[in-house]
Amino acid sequence: MKVEGVAGVEQFASPGKGRGLRASRAFGVGELLLSCPAYSYVLSVKERGLICEQCFSRKTGLARCGKCKKAFYCNVNCQKKNWSMHKLECQAMCAFGQHWCPSETVRLVARIIARLRDQRERSPSENLLLLRDMEDHLEDLDNEKRQMIEAHIASLHQFYSKHLDFPEHQALLTLFSQVHCNGFTVEDEELSNLGLAIFPDIALLNHSCSPNVIVTYRGINAEVRAVQSISAGQEIFTSYIDLLYPCEDRMERLRDMYYFNCDCKVCTTRSTDMEKMSVRKLRDEIGEKEIRDMVRYARNAMEDFRRAKHEKSPAALLEMCELSIDKMSSVFEDSNVYILHMMYQAMGICLFTENYDGAVRYGEKLLQPFTVLYPEYSLNVASVYLKMARLYVAVGRKSAGITAFQKALAVMEIVHGKDHTYVTELKQEMAVK
Ligand SMILES: C[S@@+](CC[C@H](N)C(=O)[O-])C[C@H]1O[C@@H](n2cnc3c(N)ncnc32)[C@H](O)[C@@H]1O
Ligand SMILES: [Zn+2]
Ligand SMILES: [Zn+2]
Ligand SMILES: [Zn+2]
Repeated sequence: MKVEGVAGVEQFASPGKGRGLRASRAFGVGELLLSCPAYSYVLSVKERGLICEQCFSRKTGLARCGKCKKAFYCNVNCQKKNWSMHKLECQAMCAFGQHWCPSETVRLVARIIARLRDQRERSPSENLLLLRDMEDHLEDLDNEKRQMIEAHIASLHQFYSKHLDFPEHQALLTLFSQVHCNGFTVEDEELSNLGLAIFPDIALLNHSCSPNVIVTYRGINAEVRAVQSISAGQEIFTSYIDLLYPCEDRMERLRDMYYFNCDCKVCTTRSTDMEKMSVRKLRDEIGEKEIRDMVRYARNAMEDFRRAKHEKSPAALLEMCELSIDKMSSVFEDSNVYILHMMYQAMGICLFTENYDGAVRYGEKLLQPFTVLYPEYSLNVASVYLKMARLYVAVGRKSAGITAFQKALAVMEIVHGKDHTYVTELKQEMAVK
């Protein structure tokens, strides 16, 4: 079957990977292969008031729901369109007050159930794949994952029973499991999380650590653009994960979240690992064991930081970053990905606390290694350039700001498309500076 609107993409059986998508004609870098409206989606609570709940437009002066005063819209039109979803939460949010706390996944699944209940025909998000046919990996769930899903189901019953009739338990298990391995986090141009969404057609894309497409978002539509030239017959691959990390870390994440071993060229040859794990060149060579121990330390430090992020103060978090960077520096180069990871976190904390000089200092250490360690067109690279551009302007370094804006723009024009609002807004921002 061909996708309506964008010809040139078809579903096929990808050996060892289940179903996949392949190109039936050639595509050049920057070309749009596929777009898909969200089947269901939910805006993050932290974005309320900044982004319209219905169309995901980012603007000032959004109008809020008079009842709950928690949902914000462009206008009455968006509010009306959103009511079939918002009504699942509007009254419940008032009734539960501060005890209303379903996770984003639970909120998304509630919306999917409501949509499935009302759906009479194939939706425009399902030209190639029906939501109900998405991979579920039910048989791969271990006890920990099952328990997590059971907790989600309990939360669904707790917060949504008034407005929803639930399918039977097994169907709920399947749905949550499908959302875990097919859901998309919608992100803005700085890679801030805006919400969660399901795009069944785009969920057909398999993963590679050297992807030939990138998925970006335009309101509540997902778009797929080529970042390598693609010839007719070639499989289309996106990346499911952050590509900064070495093979073993990527494998662990892919196995844990998506239940497969990646056999892409970068993984089979481990061609980029040495560069990613760069070790200091001292007069006395650093031994294998010392390196292994430091890698273990680094992984633990990243995990400790991830857990602490929601609990500790920014000052305590920054100290955690600094201590681990200091320790790792005895063995690793500044361009080692574990050091870069901690510097990226430190930059985020400095941004949060409006310590712009600190953020610039960390950001400057990321830019050069990021351009080498990530693929040529990368949202991670573009977003750091963009953050840096805005920071440079904020600290009065105008010409450095313009250069960084230009670097971000060069990637964004390819991955988001030249007519994307992020691109046009960025050009306006540059013109003002
Ligand atoms: C979002 S789905 C992609 C479409 C999927 N192949 C299908 O048939 O529905 C994600 C799942 O596809 C499979 N998959 C994706 N990339 C893969 C790869 N590089 N190698 C093997 N399996 C892969 C895994 O089972 C993964 O959990
Ligand atoms: Zn709107
Ligand atoms: Zn409301
Ligand atoms: Zn790989």
